[in-house]
Amino acid sequence: MPKESVIEFYEALRQSEALKQQSKAITTIEEMIKMASKYGYCFNSKDISEANGSETPKKGEELIAIESSETNGNNFPQQYHYEYEFSQMPEFGEIAQQFEKLKIKPSTVDMAVYEKSFREEDLQFADVSPTAPDFQQRYLESLRSYMDLGVTPQPEYAWRQFHLINLDRHVEHPLYEEYFQAKVRLLELFESYFGTEVRFSGSLWYPPNAYRMWHTNETQPGWRMYLVDFDKNDINGDEKSFFRYMDPETKELVTLGEKPKLVRFFKVESEKSKLFWHCIVNRTSANRWSFGFQISSQWMKKVLKN
Ligand SMILES: [Fe+2]
Repeated sequence: MPKESVIEFYEALRQSEALKQQSKAITTIEEMIKMASKYGYCFNSKDISEANGSETPKKGEELIAIESSETNGNNFPQQYHYEYEFSQMPEFGEIAQQFEKLKIKPSTVDMAVYEKSFREEDLQFADVSPTAPDFQQRYLESLRSYMDLGVTPQPEYAWRQFHLINLDRHVEHPLYEEYFQAKVRLLELFESYFGTEVRFSGSLWYPPNAYRMWHTNETQPGWRMYLVDFDKNDINGDEKSFFRYMDPETKELVTLGEKPKLVRFFKVESEKSKLFWHCIVNRTSANRWSFGFQISSQWMKKVLKN
């Protein structure tokens, strides 16, 4: 029975350190189904919903918990972002090597359908501050709307908020297995680098003119680390590609122009009064990749002392 198979798979994850470790590299249902089938557990996304309805993981017993609190004695962290070039990161050698294997363009992405979902006004929404009077209305509209692209099931980029490719929704292409193994290895390297648990939070390919509209990630508070790279080297922080956020304390917009091989840390908040609004635009002719990780605030001990 598929539903029982889901529950058995959850149990296997609890019992096996090796499986648990692999599961930290997974960010989508598609990846979970793929991994489970490799170990003989066969189910689909409907079976998962049914199983979750009857066997929700108990509170306080999530499979992996990433400690996200910070004790610097005030309500706001000292800084909301930190950014480094790979070359500034000590002992980053094999991490950079594994990272190279992640920058894929899955053959299963329908680029024509992707391009059809582009909306200039959505890209330009990055210039509107979340404090602007018409912001909320436009934001809610973008949240609610899905595009009718005439394909079923709807790809991730059918959602107006998300004009980019979520690599982890593409598991049926020839590069996937190698890509997944590189993710697992990368996590091992990061966990030994930081001395804490790390898990993937998102694996994103931003082709030219891709964007992610304003959002907060408020349901998953804590520190994030992103590795960012391009397939062209002539991008020099001139803000054609950028990560923009609104400082939760001052409400000022901060725009981080990008260049190849960056490591960025930022902190997502869940309290309504200090949400971390942010958006991303790639208006270059290059492909941009960014890989996100949930990471303990202990990352600072390793990086800030250098
Ligand atoms: Fe985000």
